[in-house]
Amino acid sequence: MLSPLIPLTLTVAIATLSHADTVVIPTSSFDSYADLETYWNYLYPWGSDHNGSARMVGNSTDHSHISVANGVLTLTATPTSGQGTSSESPHLTIDYFSGTIYAKDDITVDGTDVVGYVVEGEFIAPTAVGTWPAFWLTAVNSWPPEADIGEWKGTQQTWFNTFNTSSEVKSTIVAWPDDGEFHSVKAVLSSIEGDSSDVTIDYYLDNVLQATHVGADFLGAPLYLIIDLQMEGSSGSPGPTGTTTYQIRNVQVTKVTS
Ligand SMILES: *[C@@H]1O[C@H](CO)[C@@H](O)[C@H](O)[C@H]1NC(C)=O
Ligand SMILES: *[C@@H]1O[C@H](CO)[C@@H](O)[C@H](O)[C@H]1NC(C)=O
Ligand SMILES: *[C@@H]1O[C@H](CO)[C@@H](O)[C@H](O)[C@H]1NC(C)=O
Repeated sequence: MLSPLIPLTLTVAIATLSHADTVVIPTSSFDSYADLETYWNYLYPWGSDHNGSARMVGNSTDHSHISVANGVLTLTATPTSGQGTSSESPHLTIDYFSGTIYAKDDITVDGTDVVGYVVEGEFIAPTAVGTWPAFWLTAVNSWPPEADIGEWKGTQQTWFNTFNTSSEVKSTIVAWPDDGEFHSVKAVLSSIEGDSSDVTIDYYLDNVLQATHVGADFLGAPLYLIIDLQMEGSSGSPGPTGTTTYQIRNVQVTKVTS
């Protein structure tokens, strides 16, 4: 007589085969500068400035604000003055030099070949007033879509935000365990059967589901993955008078194909 376990095992194997996971950024991307530069570019996709008061500085020879060692990325903000204003709206006075990187490969859930993405990492994020670190996805073409997987705005909380439009935003704000230890955040983006424009985004803190948002018009839209240490702006001001660091490790991006 056949064991009932055999068909069960076969069914599980077939179900597992129907989706395949491909790691597109491995957890080793902060092991060395060669690894960093294989998977990431320095600064923002559009340059050194954004909507806070930090101007990003870094390249393959200047690692004063963007450094890696032993699998950890460290972004460092230091006060500065006499640098004029940010080139990006709302054109704040530049009060800091800091660091940002973005992934070389865009993230696109297309619902046909690519049915999802998992974007995760572990963070020691500064939470003082005027520190604005983030781990986020934003539109390559016209903005939004945007999804913030971690955003700390000068309080001991992190924000999971999904932007349908500039004004239609869903935010889930959760307490951040600000204990000096690494904690993880994760977003799981999935296409929706029979829906040709939206994706669901499950947001996790330390592997516990915190919220599921629906992002309109995310399907087929290429997204940048950015890790930045902005300052002031949405996190309040004045920011710190000393050095601020933001540490990141075990960032992994996994593509789920059908
Ligand atoms: C890197 O940046 C420094 C200033 O921060 C600059 O002097 C140098 O020319 C840059 N190097 C490259 C390779 O762009
Ligand atoms: C975005 O729009 C979808 C409908 O397409 C809706 O279900 C969802 O709640 C909206 N999400 C946000 C972030 O407003
Ligand atoms: C800054 O830009 C980010 C990303 O585009 C956006 O989420 C945020 O609302 C902007 N904040 C301010 C204060 O301009």
